[in-house]
Amino acid sequence: MSNKNTLTLTDNRTGKTISLPIQAGTAGPPVVDIRGIYGDFGLFTLDPGFKSTASCTSNITFIDGEKGVLLYRGYPIEQLADQSSFVETSYLLMKGELPNQSQLDDFDQLITRHTMVHEQLLNFYQGFRRDAHPMAIMVGVVGALSAFYHDSLDIHDPRHRELSAIRLLAKIPTIAAACYKHSIGQPFIYPDNNLDYAANFLKMMFAVPGQNYQVNPVVARALDKILILHADHEQNASTSTVRLAGSTGANPFAAISAGIGALWGPSHGGANEAVLKMLYEIGTVENVPKFIKKAQDPNDSFRLMGFGHRVYRNHDPRAQVLKKEAKKVLEALDHHDDPLFKLALELERIALEDEYFIEKKLYPNVDFYSGIIESAMGIPTNMFTVMFAMARCVGWIAQWKEMMVDKDLVIGRPRQLYQGPAQRNYKAVNSR
Ligand code: CMC
Repeated sequence: MSNKNTLTLTDNRTGKTISLPIQAGTAGPPVVDIRGIYGDFGLFTLDPGFKSTASCTSNITFIDGEKGVLLYRGYPIEQLADQSSFVETSYLLMKGELPNQSQLDDFDQLITRHTMVHEQLLNFYQGFRRDAHPMAIMVGVVGALSAFYHDSLDIHDPRHRELSAIRLLAKIPTIAAACYKHSIGQPFIYPDNNLDYAANFLKMMFAVPGQNYQVNPVVARALDKILILHADHEQNASTSTVRLAGSTGANPFAAISAGIGALWGPSHGGANEAVLKMLYEIGTVENVPKFIKKAQDPNDSFRLMGFGHRVYRNHDPRAQVLKKEAKKVLEALDHHDDPLFKLALELERIALEDEYFIEKKLYPNVDFYSGIIESAMGIPTNMFTVMFAMARCVGWIAQWKEMMVDKDLVIGRPRQLYQGPAQRNYKAVNSR
């Protein structure tokens, strides 16, 4: 009897057939389990960029790119951005359910207790040139955490894993703000545990020892939203990097440092920095059509940064939340006539009416508006990707923790289609 939940393949070279099981998830396309292909057929599969390949099973985040839906543990991102806090969302991502009040208070306190970094870690910053890119510092310092917290490095001990997770979540804003302070030659500001997660970060970024610093609540709330919106995003390039590094048994600080490196690229987390650079390059609304044309020219490497996404083919729900938030923040900060925002709106309007962008389903992504808000907050452009890393850290941790208890966990080791020379004999240099 034929089983409906299989895919039958025939190797036409040999006539041999194989039935591969099809597994359905809670949502999204079902997957064909191809693990048997090599054993039964002696074949590998080829899928550069993982366009059709699921690398793992996961219960954390789900995207429906056709409908523009993003869920964390089943909850729509719009509801979380509107009603939750970053700390509560972090609990949800890490533990699977929303906390009750006392669970939330305990979690909040636990994070607060771990916000300081080892004093010696601060010396580490002095080794970096003053003009180092903050992401370069971030990759190094997060990796260096493994040299400071030996008591939580046993990846097979659940208590160690939990402690590392809390340490990363708690210390990442302190590390990020210190990257900025180092770059402008100001003293590091210690965490203020009376403030919430976002407000504490703003204080560590902008306070100076000689003056009182008051956090603007509208700015703190907007930052909290930005953190929620960036917190996790399925098996994207940096998360997959964290999983791949973690699958070797590397400690979580090392794995997350690898993820930060992957996030840096302009096709991924580096896009928010690239959006601002692009807006400055475009300069005025009159120049928009010229740049829209450039983006379509196959001989020009220019792309509209902040547009397009591998998964979203309708709209990026995070961008829609941020567009509204940008208006609020600019008003609260008295930047009503922000020329960059006006330029961004015009660019978005023209691109969304353009045949090329419509046909290729290219919509503004999360990076298109985050940079404008962050810029209005006074955050310099070269810190934007650091902000992204700070937010995504909890997603990386949640995915790493999930992987560590996955019964299918094995070292990640892709195959390849080798097209180099066949075996040949070495020739001495004088006979080549
Ligand atoms: N501007 C102009 N053309 C574009 C753009 C763009 N931003 N994005 C894609 N295209 C074109 C691309 O040239 C290609 O055309 P053709 O079919 O003629 O070769 C087609 O659309 C498909 O693009 P792709 O590069 O094959 O698509 P992808 O899924 O591999 O890449 C992407 C997705 C995000 C890397 C790409 O859209 C891009 O480079 N966007 C700009 C960078 C950016 O904003 N990145 C942030 C992503 S969201 C944050 C995150 O998750 O990290």
